[in-house]
Formats: sequence, structure tokens, C-alpha cells
Amino acid sequence: MNDLYDESWLYDLIHDKPADSREVAFYERQISRFGSPVLELACGTGNYLVILSQTDVEISGLDNSDEMLHAAERRAERQHTETNLINADMRSFELDQKFALIFVAGNSLQHLLKKEDVEACFASVRRHLKPGGKFIVEVFNPSLELLNRHPQERFLVGEYETENGAVVLTENVRYDVATQINFIDWHYQNQFMNDEQTVSFTMRQFFPQELDALFEYNGFRIHAKYGDFDESVFSGESPKQIIVASLA
Ligand SMILES: C[S@@+](CC[C@H](N)C(=O)[O-])C[C@H]1O[C@@H](n2cnc3c(N)ncnc32)[C@H](O)[C@@H]1O
Repeated sequence: MNDLYDESWLYDLIHDKPADSREVAFYERQISRFGSPVLELACGTGNYLVILSQTDVEISGLDNSDEMLHAAERRAERQHTETNLINADMRSFELDQKFALIFVAGNSLQHLLKKEDVEACFASVRRHLKPGGKFIVEVFNPSLELLNRHPQERFLVGEYETENGAVVLTENVRYDVATQINFIDWHYQNQFMNDEQTVSFTMRQFFPQELDALFEYNGFRIHAKYGDFDESVFSGESPKQIIVASLA
């Protein structure tokens, strides 16, 4: 079974963000509000990074997957732009620059499975923020319905067109209540594949009060908590938790 991030093409097939998407517009607004230089942690295939690199913003992307960073390089080449990529762990990076804005998009913080991982990441962010700099984290608002699914039950994620025909993607999830980790298997197949393929990944769930507390006891002050990319105020029904914070 492969790791999802060894299959960057599959990640992009599901998650590609067009330049005019509301997600990209959200990050453009934050950059125009808070300024640059900007650092994106866990930038992956450069969904946001490459589009934002095409503006006059000074922005760097950091990720610890060679495969995802190579995909980001290829995306930048396709779009005739240059992008600054750093291969490092978001829990322990050391750069000789400080930033006006550091953000973690696309639920990537949910790959930090233990409290200690989050604390290490937040400490690294603290060392790299300019005075008055902002830190933005975007994760899911946990869905109790999804976490309560039976581990053997398959759900359709979607059907996606590729050069090799339509890819059908299904998933099953197993949630561990004690660690708050959701173990996710994605199964995919198209007409040219004999066997179904499976990739796996894990996503730690952050419950709303817990996430706020993590910011507050790690030296941050929360300025805004949005429930979606339209900057609506966070509520129980919100799909996302998007926190804008600065050093306390
Ligand atoms: C869900 S993808 C998000 C990519 C991008 N931010 C986006 O929204 O399209 C998560 C990314 O986190 C990266 N990642 C996971 N753990 C990491 C760590 N400890 N340090 C740096 N990157 C990490 C993975 O390699 C992957 O590229």
C-alpha cells in the first residue's frame, strides 16, 4: 500500500485549485492584508504557492516530501514561473529569514499526529515570524458523521477525468477515538488497470476548543477564527476552522 504523497498525480487530480478558486482568493486577501515575505508550510505540489509566486509577492514553500516538491517544480515550469522550494520538516525548520505571514493550508497541520509535533511546529513558526507577523492555520471542523462511519464501509469520493479515462475513487476510514487519528484508505481504479490500487494517509482531528487552546498555550493570540474561505465567523456547522493568529 502506498502513501498518498508518493502519488502526487492523484493528490492533484482531487485537490487542484484553479487560480480563480475561492481558496486562492482567500490567501491572496490575507497576503494583501498582512504583507510579505510569506512562507507556506507543507506546500505540497504548489497548489497555492505557484499561483502566488506569479504575483510580486516574495513567497517560499516548504515540504518534506521529495515527490510533492518535484511536482511543485513541474507545476512552476508548466506555468513559466520560478518558485522557491525548501525541503524541510515543518516541526524543525531553521531558515535565515523571518516572515510577515506563515500559513499552513489544505488541512496539512492534520498530518502532525501528536501534541508534541504541533508544539514543535508552533515553536518553529514563532522563531520565524517578524514582530507583528501573522500565522494562519486551516484545518477541517471534525465531522462526527464521517468519524462514525463503519471502518469496512466504502464511500464514493468522486469520479475524475484523466488522459487514461475516468478514475473512480472510493474511501474507507477508521477513526481512533483515543488518539483522534483518522486512518484513511483511498481506493482507485480505471478501465486500464487490472487491479484496484490503494493509498493511505492519516489525519489527526482538532476539535474546536482544543485547537484554540493549542494556539493560546503555545504563545499565540487568536485575532480571527473563520468557518470557511468567505471569512464567515466560525460556528458548529462550519466546514473549516481557519485561525489567524500572531505572537502573544
Ligand atoms: C494535504 S497536502 C497539502 C498541500 C498543499 N498545502 C495544498 O493545500 O494543496 C499535505 C502536505 O503536507 C506535507 N507534510 C506532511 N507532514 C509534513 C511535515 N512534517 N513537514 C513538512 N511537510 C509535511 C506532505 O508532504 C504534503 O505535501
